[in-house]
Amino acid sequence: MTSVVLGVGAGIAAYKSCELLRLFTESGHDVRVVPTRDALRFVGEPTWAALSGNPVTSEVWESVHEVPHVRIGQHADLVVVAPATADVLARAAGGLAGDLLTNTLLTARCPVVFAPAMHTEMWDHPATRANVATLRERGSIVIEPAVGRLTGADTGPGRLPDPAEIFEVCRRVLAGRGADLAGRHVVVSAGGTREAIDPVRFIGNHSSGLQGYALARTAVARGAEVTLVSANVALPDPAGAKVVRVDSARRLREAVLAAAGHADAVVMAAAVADFRPVRTSDTKIKKSAAEPDAIHLTRNPDVLAELGEIRRARREPYGDAERAAGRGASEGVAPPYPRVIVGFAAETDDVLANGRAKLERKGCDLLVVNQVGHGLAFGTPDNAAVVLTAEGGSVEIPRGPKEDLADVVWDLVAARLS
Ligand code: CTP
Repeated sequence: MTSVVLGVGAGIAAYKSCELLRLFTESGHDVRVVPTRDALRFVGEPTWAALSGNPVTSEVWESVHEVPHVRIGQHADLVVVAPATADVLARAAGGLAGDLLTNTLLTARCPVVFAPAMHTEMWDHPATRANVATLRERGSIVIEPAVGRLTGADTGPGRLPDPAEIFEVCRRVLAGRGADLAGRHVVVSAGGTREAIDPVRFIGNHSSGLQGYALARTAVARGAEVTLVSANVALPDPAGAKVVRVDSARRLREAVLAAAGHADAVVMAAAVADFRPVRTSDTKIKKSAAEPDAIHLTRNPDVLAELGEIRRARREPYGDAERAAGRGASEGVAPPYPRVIVGFAAETDDVLANGRAKLERKGCDLLVVNQVGHGLAFGTPDNAAVVLTAEGGSVEIPRGPKEDLADVVWDLVAARLS
């Protein structure tokens, strides 16, 4: 049985951590809740004790013979702090040890996840930014807060993400890849674009967004800053990812290119429509006409190919030798970002040959090729694929959860970034 420490800071979102606690206990984890003194003003000790089945205290002065200030951290497989207030983040970054939670954070050698929740002003304050950067540098996972309604009437970044999504991050962290994407910014596109015919109809596709969301969730769990460009997906936001919603291929292109400029890796998991109607009717097309009009299509931009092209153009002023010697960025030339470009290819036949040709055509580093149609891939929790590399290699990924496939993709991306 894994031992999880649930640290609770003094924020109103403490009540949501009761749900997080339930998710841990119901999936068989032993949870020790360590609230700060003031957190107990929001949710009291009996609630935590009853839900966890373990004793609960904020102090280092109780059960001293068991040396709890050291033992709890030493024996933990995971420490998750939710909500992590500005105060807890500051004390953790500063290495203070005034209560049981901060002692536990100092003695834990297992992965540590902070799920911050606070008002936007506090989250944006340079002191908090510096504390978050320090904690991330030390290998902790600090997941970005969700954007939305805060205490009172204000809205903005600072909400505690959905407990189920925090739990998913923790589950991936416990699965154990470590924070090998810490300090990296990755962009993932997910879902399927819709090309409007009129205000009520569109040309779309079957993509559910599950694979892209799994990529975003696993990247967060591995410490990355994640921008998720989401096209028409009906799934909850993954905790810690910045979600940009788009509808059409052209909107997706804008969002991906805007985020890609400072990204280490872009993974294009979205199913982007190749064509759109030449004309979109402003009003609903009525069936009164005797014969329907044909819908004429025009080509959409190929975002993946464009990313490859932008990178190639940025590389041009300097050759490999000059780049290796560090020239380029220091001389005002944009670095050849994104450093790793990953495409997906959905094929129904000649899967590998089509995949290899597509990788070359689109100038990406990795291409995840999977077979679709006949109930395969779309909308299912499982996937199987072959990842082709620009060097001519291939990695086979057997049928399994989309998150396992995502982890293999990030393994390959992390190896190329390091
Ligand atoms: N893609 C893109 N922009 C498009 C179409 C596709 O960025 N307009 C990206 C997808 O996100 C995916 C990859 O290209 O990563 C492959 O998409 P796929 O539909 O398999 O390839 P196509 O280029 O559309 O080729 P074809 O339809 O001929 O197989």
